[in-house]
Amino acid sequence: MESPSAPVHRGCVPWQRLLLAASLLTFWSLPTTAQLTIESVPPNAAEGKDVLLRVHNLPGDLGGFIWYKGEIVDSDLQIVSYVIDTQTITLGPAYSHRETIYPNGSLLFQKVTLQDTGYYTLLAMKKIYTSIQVTGQLRVYQPVGKPALRASNATVTEHKDTVVLTCLTNDKGISFRWLFKNQILPHKDRMKLSQGNSILTIDPVRREDAGGYQCEIFNPISSSKSDPLELDVQYDPTLPSPGLSDGAIAGIVVGVLAGVALIAALMYFLCIRKTGGASDQRDLTEHKPSASNHSQGHSDSSPNKIHEVTYSLLNFSGQESKKPTSASPSPTATEPVYAEIKKK
Ligand SMILES: *[C@@H]1O[C@H](CO)[C@@H](O)[C@H](O)[C@H]1NC(C)=O
Ligand SMILES: *[C@@H]1O[C@H](CO)[C@@H](O)[C@H](O)[C@H]1NC(C)=O
Repeated sequence: MESPSAPVHRGCVPWQRLLLAASLLTFWSLPTTAQLTIESVPPNAAEGKDVLLRVHNLPGDLGGFIWYKGEIVDSDLQIVSYVIDTQTITLGPAYSHRETIYPNGSLLFQKVTLQDTGYYTLLAMKKIYTSIQVTGQLRVYQPVGKPALRASNATVTEHKDTVVLTCLTNDKGISFRWLFKNQILPHKDRMKLSQGNSILTIDPVRREDAGGYQCEIFNPISSSKSDPLELDVQYDPTLPSPGLSDGAIAGIVVGVLAGVALIAALMYFLCIRKTGGASDQRDLTEHKPSASNHSQGHSDSSPNKIHEVTYSLLNFSGQESKKPTSASPSPTATEPVYAEIKKK
């Protein structure tokens, strides 16, 4: 542009010097304002599609470009070179007939294959015999196939058996995820994933694990689910639901009994206060309704009678604590208490 004399000659002689510069000065990079970069468009390509390695922030005053396969400048892996002044394109040993170089340095790959995956290096050569080198990456993926799901045993017994679910696929470079009843499988302590998440072990199995399982494999460009596998969990219906462990049931029983004891103690306290002195009762305005209910039901209620109620409640509590594994202790524990309170 600056020197429009003898274009053929100019394109030829500096080019040889440029190649010399390329071999000698490959790592000599000059400080530039914006970094020279290569962007793959798209970043992850499906096999058979076209991909552009787009060059950003090329410096000015360029003489030409050379593209190489790999991360280094290696003349044996040269794909193509381009001389800007003469628009001369020279094909290298690594050229595969599917690459196109553009005047702005970008390189188009048509119908990419898995073998195209890898690094590509651009050498941008300035007219003053210096060069800058930048490496970009091309990622090519095949759409994943449908995986198959196998169970060690599709009919298992609760608390007794272990289930091993295996996701089978021939695809490489994939990720696995697990679905249960069409949702992402919620992880439980009884579950273990192994072999890169391709194997799911449930140990021990519980009735809540029964249902349809699927494994899904995916890569950046595709995903595929297995057919659902139905897991049948056999269990003893007389045993408590595993949703409430023995510890949880015991906890509920203890909680209910504590509540009952608290109510009993409160009522006892209120009744003592009520019968203890008339002056105290005026202060207990908040608790007056419950206290007056008692006096309304039994206008001539004596302290002895109230003591009986309290004792019967405590006796009831004592009996209940002897069978803490009862299937539904909370309703039986609370209902009679309220019934007794109403009766009084
Ligand atoms: C370079 O040219 C190609 C083809 O015209 C175009 O698709 C690409 O976007 C250009 N690159 C930049 C960085 O402008
Ligand atoms: C599967 O589990 C059931 C129930 O525990 C058992 O009866 C059966 O023998 C198991 N089958 C295999 C192949 O292990």
